[in-house]
Amino acid sequence: MTNVAVGLSKDLPNGRVMRAIVGEQDLVVWRSKSGVLSAWDNRCPHRGMRLSHGFVRGEALACVYHGWHYDKTATCRYIPAHPELEPPETIKAQRFSSTEKGGLIWVSIEEQSTEPSIPDNLKAIRSISFACPMMALKQVIRDLDFTLVKDDNSGWVIQEKSDDQWMMKSIKANISLHLFFQNLSEQTCKIHALANSDCAPDTMKKMSQALEHIRRLAEKHYEVVVS
Ligand code: FES
Repeated sequence: MTNVAVGLSKDLPNGRVMRAIVGEQDLVVWRSKSGVLSAWDNRCPHRGMRLSHGFVRGEALACVYHGWHYDKTATCRYIPAHPELEPPETIKAQRFSSTEKGGLIWVSIEEQSTEPSIPDNLKAIRSISFACPMMALKQVIRDLDFTLVKDDNSGWVIQEKSDDQWMMKSIKANISLHLFFQNLSEQTCKIHALANSDCAPDTMKKMSQALEHIRRLAEKHYEVVVS
């Protein structure tokens, strides 16, 4: 596992915070007021509160519990209960490498990471969560026997580029759907979906609806399998 897609860039505007999971690692991913992206261990060094419950204050992330402020190096710079104190440099959250490419936010929890493999010319459709294991979701997509996008009866082929990245390509129409899988737990997962850049807005909307349809099928299928 190197770089993992954890969200769409457009879903994390400046000044916002989100939670992400990569493997077993719980993360806070946030963007400062000026747009600097960071990914840290989701645990405040003070008393362990989830930093993803915190809020952005300019170029710092403030913990929601006692308000300690951490700058973009993840170092504590301000403690509201002791405003005159300069906090020791050792009070730091654990940082991970984060980057943006192709409209996605990527995080690596490994020391060495390779550049994410994604074309630059894609358009973001949506991120969507599934209450079923990733293997079950993938099986439902492989077994799909329906027209993915209404009005396109040409059929689709799946190219499984890697475990985490699939491309579904319409056989006749110039439409490709790029799926980036993110495992959240044994029972939940996510897809971040993008399309080719010249895809019409109406088709993008239909692909978004198709993903909803896949969700209903996958969750129903999983319910049937486990019951
Ligand atoms: S737990 Fe975060 S500031 Fe106290």
